[in-house]
Amino acid sequence: GAPVEVDISGIAPGQMRTVEWRGKPVWILHRTKEQLDALPKLDSQLADPDSDRPGYTPAYAKNEYRSRRPEIFICIGICTHLGCSPTPHLAAGAGAGLPGGWEGGFLCPCHGSTFDLAGRVYSNKPAPDNLEIPPYEFSADGTMVTIG
Ligand code: FES
Repeated sequence: GAPVEVDISGIAPGQMRTVEWRGKPVWILHRTKEQLDALPKLDSQLADPDSDRPGYTPAYAKNEYRSRRPEIFICIGICTHLGCSPTPHLAAGAGAGLPGGWEGGFLCPCHGSTFDLAGRVYSNKPAPDNLEIPPYEFSADGTMVTIG
């Protein structure tokens, strides 16, 4: 499949856009400072907080934010359990009243796996792995991203 080029300059903090790459949904989320600050506090609740398991996290995303640039999160929006597409719940505390009672992030409607805003799966959920990060690069001025 051909690479997909996306203008991300219009995605405001707190907003997410979905694009298609190789027939798969790819999420582009512009995280706020509050959303970024929350990530390190979640590590103890996650199955693979440092993304050590092979195959889901390229070297450039092996960091706390799982991204090249902290504020821009890009991942494939397909659950690592059986392939459903999780639903975003992005507002602070959005997960509190939902199944799993977690902080918010992404909830898979099929069997209840929950993921944080870096696509990291919570412990003791059906999904075994973090959401997959695709190959991507930013343009020199940072306004465009090329996926694939
Ligand atoms: Fe997502 Fe089963 S497919 S939890």
